[in-house]
Parts: sequence; C-alpha cells; structure tokens
Amino acid sequence: MVSLTAASVVPVSCAMALLGVGCLAAALLAFLLVRQLVKQRRPPGFPPGPSPIPIIGNIFSLATEPHVFLKRQSEVHGQIFSLDLGGIMTVVLNGYDCVKECLYHQSEVFADRPSLPLFKKMTKMGGLLNCKYGKGWNDHRKLACNSFRYFGSGQRLFERKISEECMFFVDAIDGHKGKPFNPKHLVTNAVSNITNLIIFGQRFTYDDRDFQHMIEIFSENVELAVSGWALLYNAFPWIEYMPFGKHQKLFRNATEVYDFLLEVIKRFSHGRVPHVPRHYVDAYLDELEQNSGDPSSSFSYENLIYSVGELIIAGTETTTNTLRWAMLYMALYPNIQERVHREIDGVLTNGRAPTLEDKHKMPYVEAVLHEILRFCNIVPLGIFRATSQEAKVNGYTIPKGTMVITNLYSVHFDEKYWNEPGVFSPQRFLDSSGNFVRREAFLPFSLGRRHCLGEQLARMEMFLFFTTLLQRFHLQFPPGTVPTVTPKLGMTLQPKPYSICAVRRQQKFPGS
Ligand code: HEM
Repeated sequence: MVSLTAASVVPVSCAMALLGVGCLAAALLAFLLVRQLVKQRRPPGFPPGPSPIPIIGNIFSLATEPHVFLKRQSEVHGQIFSLDLGGIMTVVLNGYDCVKECLYHQSEVFADRPSLPLFKKMTKMGGLLNCKYGKGWNDHRKLACNSFRYFGSGQRLFERKISEECMFFVDAIDGHKGKPFNPKHLVTNAVSNITNLIIFGQRFTYDDRDFQHMIEIFSENVELAVSGWALLYNAFPWIEYMPFGKHQKLFRNATEVYDFLLEVIKRFSHGRVPHVPRHYVDAYLDELEQNSGDPSSSFSYENLIYSVGELIIAGTETTTNTLRWAMLYMALYPNIQERVHREIDGVLTNGRAPTLEDKHKMPYVEAVLHEILRFCNIVPLGIFRATSQEAKVNGYTIPKGTMVITNLYSVHFDEKYWNEPGVFSPQRFLDSSGNFVRREAFLPFSLGRRHCLGEQLARMEMFLFFTTLLQRFHLQFPPGTVPTVTPKLGMTLQPKPYSICAVRRQQKFPGS
C-alpha cells in the first residue's frame, strides 16, 4: 500500500483550493455581471434615451456640464427621456411643460428622494433634504418651516438682524479699501450667518476659523456629491473599500462636519428651557422630548445633526453663489450696474439703509436678481427626486422608486418661454413701463412638495445684501483682468474664484 506523506498531499490540496477559489470568484463575477446587465434593462413602457455602455451605462456622459448635455439629449429623445447610471435607471425631465406636469400636477408622485448608497451613507435617508417622502419628512419639514417663520422671516425684528449683517458685510469689504479681493469667504460668512441666527440664535464672526473650515469642506462635498466618483459609488457601493478615490474625501469631510455640528449643537442648546425655544435647535429638542415615547417618531439626535447640516449648507451654498454671480455680472456689465445705482439712489434718499418695503419700488434691481437666478442656474439639476409610486407621463410608465433628475437649466433656457435665452438681459423681467413682471418658466427654487423651503428667506437676503452692497460700492475688475464666466461644476454652479475691487461711491441724491 502506498502511504501519502504530508509533503505530497499539500501541493495537490493547495492547487485544488486555489482552483476552488478561482471558480468561486469567476462564478461571483459572472453573477454580478448578469445582475448588472439585468439592472441595466429598461423596464417596459420606460422612456427612451441615449445608448448606455455595458456596466457603467451613461455615467461618463455626465462628467462635463451635465445640464447642457441633458438638454441636448432632450432635443433628440424628447422632453422626458431615460439614462442608465450604472444600473440606476433614471428619468430626466426637461423643459417647463414637462417639469410642471410632473412636479406640480403630479406633486405627490414625484416627491420622493432616491435611495442612493451615497445618501444612505451620509444621512441614512433621514434628516430633511434627503429624507424619504413620508411621515419623517413631513415632521421635519413642518418643524423647519415653523421655525423659519417663528425665528426668521415671519418676524419684523429679523429684517433688522439681516440689515445688521449687511452692515458687518459692507464694513468688512470696506477694509479692502478698493483693492482687489476674492469676495467668496466674506459672502459665504455673511450669508450663512442669517441661517445661523435661525438655527443657533447667533452669528459667527468672520474670523471664526473653525466655522469657516466646516463650511469650506461641506461646500466641497456639494461639489463632490455629483462627481464621477460619487456616481460610481452609487452604482458600485463596494468601491467604498478602495482606499483611493474622491468618494473617500467626501466621507472624511462628512465625518468632520458632523463632529463639528454635534459640538455646536451642544454649545447652543446649553441653558435651554423646555418649551421656551430660542432657536431651531431648541425647538427640535422640544419635539424630540415630546415624542420620546413614540416608537414611530423620526425625531432623533442623529436626525437633528443631519437637518442642521442640510439647512446650513442649503441656505449658504445657494444664496452665496447667487450673490457672487451678481457681483461678477455687475462688474461685467457697467451699464446694468449704473442703472442699478441710479434706482437705488432714487429710492434710498439721504443714504438710508434699504428695507424690504423698498423692494416694490426697485423693479430694476428685482429684474437683475431674477435674471441672475435664471441665467446662472444656481442649482441646475435641482436635487435628485424619485417617484413615490408608479407614474404615467406623456404615455410612458415610470415605476415606483425611479430616480428623477429635474433639469431646471432646461426650464430657464426653454426657447418656448424665453426669447434668446442665452443672452443676459434683466429687461425680460420688465414690461414696457418698467414694472417688474413675473415669468412663469422661472423655477430656480423648483416646484411642488419638495420645492425650496428657504425661498422667502433667500429672497429677503438677496435683496438686502445686494442693495446694501451696490448702494455703497462701485464694483469693477482689477485693471486688465476679466474673469471667466464658465462655472465651476457641482450640485450648484458657482463662479470660479475671481478678484474684484469694491470702490466706495459717493451716493448721488435725486436732483444733485
Ligand atoms: C438663491 C437661493 C436658493 C436657491 C436657488 C435654492 C434652490 C433650491 C432647489 C432647486 C431645491 C430643490 C427642490 C427640489 O427637490 O426640487 C431646494 C431645496 C431646499 N432648499 Fe433651497 N434654495 C435657495 C436657498 C435656500 C435657503 C436660504 C434655505 C434655508 C436656509 C434652503 C433650504 C432648502 C431645503 C431644506 C431644501 C430641501 C426641501 C425638501 O426636500 O423638502 N434653500 N432649494
């Protein structure tokens, strides 16, 4: 009988084991491939769209200027068409008619947010902005709206607080004595302080490095959230375990932001008296305590951190970028700036500070701010939506849970509603007598159930900051420079960093 020694057994079993592992890996790969290809099949009745590449679908077509690419695709495939984002079947809505049909006429059907791996990882589909449509969202939205009314835009005193911030802002700009500076940090700080007043009851000084750093990395995340890496992560969440890639930076930033928010929430809730809320955080903690015995309650410390973060970034990134574009365009079009100066001087006689009551007396300023919002498309693709139930649109069937992209840029450049949409012209918001006119296809704040919660606040801020700034300064580029107007891409469109000179002006009073 032949006896097998250990030495002869080991290589054979080792090779068998390797073969086994290899077969298993191949089977797993084949399984994943088949699953991916099945996921990439358009469901019956689904809108058509550009041909996808196997596995990754249309992800890479969104790499540069996705809003422009998607509008061009709508000219080929129709106002509603589909995309395959690596197995995530997505519907894109283009043009005013189509966006209105879905977001307004079928408001509830299109009110959900997609359960994307990135959102799940960031906020577990809780909080407010990324929250799934349902009781949790309803409770959080109601609390935020009430707090905004109670501690913010519903209060007469609040307007004074914004005016105070406007003064800090223009005084800080004055510090540059007409020399070139990049306005980004000052605008960001000033604007975020308005939201901070509602959320924490206090502002942060312009030299608060910790707050500035938090806003900086949070804002970086707004950019990273729609980067190619984020889209890849949504399609293939296992890339989380790859040590490189921009998604890793996104996760690190998020952890840092949440740690910071936790600290500030603790600091500003110190000394809280139950049922006597001083700000949003106090009001949230009241709700949390009142519902502590209810297992179905969505109020939690974790969701408090998420919603505070979402309110800060949604309020800061958008209004800041609008004002930064406004400053850039004023310097770019001196004739428009001059007309703004004339209108401000005519209304704010004796150099008094602007109030919201002056708004209806300044139709040109209103027209300029509206044209900035239309032309610059601050949130070009809105915030991704999802269908909360099966939807029927233009004869197509869209299953429940489908991701939906609302191309707001295509609404603002919709030739059916705008004459020469590619031309920057505040005049389009004025009638022949110079009165301000509302335009239907103007949706910078989106539409329907999930429309922007901060619209009223943003409008107050934009008017007061813009008029206070232009009342005091003439804006011009440093001699010999003209910055690019090509935007920096992200979830929001922002100007690339630029330098500007804010030169103090002598206000001209009527008759002088
Ligand atoms: C010029 C300024 C602003 C613009 C252009 C803007 C635009 C938008 C857009 C397009 C959406 C997506 C709505 C959708 O899902 O279709 C949105 C949502 C939202 N915005 Fe704004 N926004 C601005 C200012 C603000 C401010 C000041 C706040 C609060 C401080 C704010 C808070 C929010 C919140 C919480 C949501 C999510 C609403 C929800 O999911 O229920 N926004 N905004």
